[in-house]
Amino acid sequence: MSVECFLNSDITKTLLIMANVKHGENIPQTQLDTGMAKRKPVKLGWTTEEVDKITHALNSVLANYSVHFQKLRNFHWNVKGSDFFDLHMEFESQYKEALENIDEIAERIRVFGETPLSNMQEYLRHSEIKEGSSQLGSDLMIRELLNDYRVLLQYMSAAIEIAGEQYDAGTENMIKGFVRKIEKHHWMLSAFLAK
Ligand SMILES: [Fe+2]
Repeated sequence: MSVECFLNSDITKTLLIMANVKHGENIPQTQLDTGMAKRKPVKLGWTTEEVDKITHALNSVLANYSVHFQKLRNFHWNVKGSDFFDLHMEFESQYKEALENIDEIAERIRVFGETPLSNMQEYLRHSEIKEGSSQLGSDLMIRELLNDYRVLLQYMSAAIEIAGEQYDAGTENMIKGFVRKIEKHHWMLSAFLAK
C-alpha cells in the first residue's frame, strides 16, 4: 500500500479522529457516571425471604448430592466380583457427573450471595442420604444407589417447586436437567439388577 493510499484509508481516518477526542468527551452520560459504581452492587430481584427459601432448598440438594458423590467413589474403588469392570466404569462416570452438578448447585447459591454448605460435617448433618459401607456386594451397592436416587429426586422436586414459586427459572431449569439424568441412571441400574 502506498503512503497516499494509507493516509486515505478508513482505518487511518478513524485513528486520527480518536486521537483528537479528549478523554471523556463525546461519551454519553450513563448511570455509571452518576456514582452508581461506588454504591453497593445491584442485587438480583428476589427478597431476602425468597432467597432464603431458594438457597435452603439448594443446600439440601447439595448436602445429599455430596454424600451420594462420595458413596459413588467408595463403590468405584471397592466394588468386587464378576461385574467389576462394568460397575467400576459406571460408578466413575456417575461420580464425574455428580461432581459437575454439585459445582453448579454451589455456584448457583453464590449467585444469590449466599454461602453453600462446603464441608463434610455440614453435608452429613444436613443429608438424608447416609454414607455407604465399603464392604457391600455389587447388588447391595446398586440397591443403595437406587435408594439415593429416590431421595435425591425428592429433594430436587422440592427445589424445583420452591424455585417455581419464586419465579426463579434459572434454578428450576438447572435442577430439571439433573432430574432427567438421575431418572435415567435409576432405569439403567434397575435394569442391571433385573439381570
Ligand atoms: Fe478410578
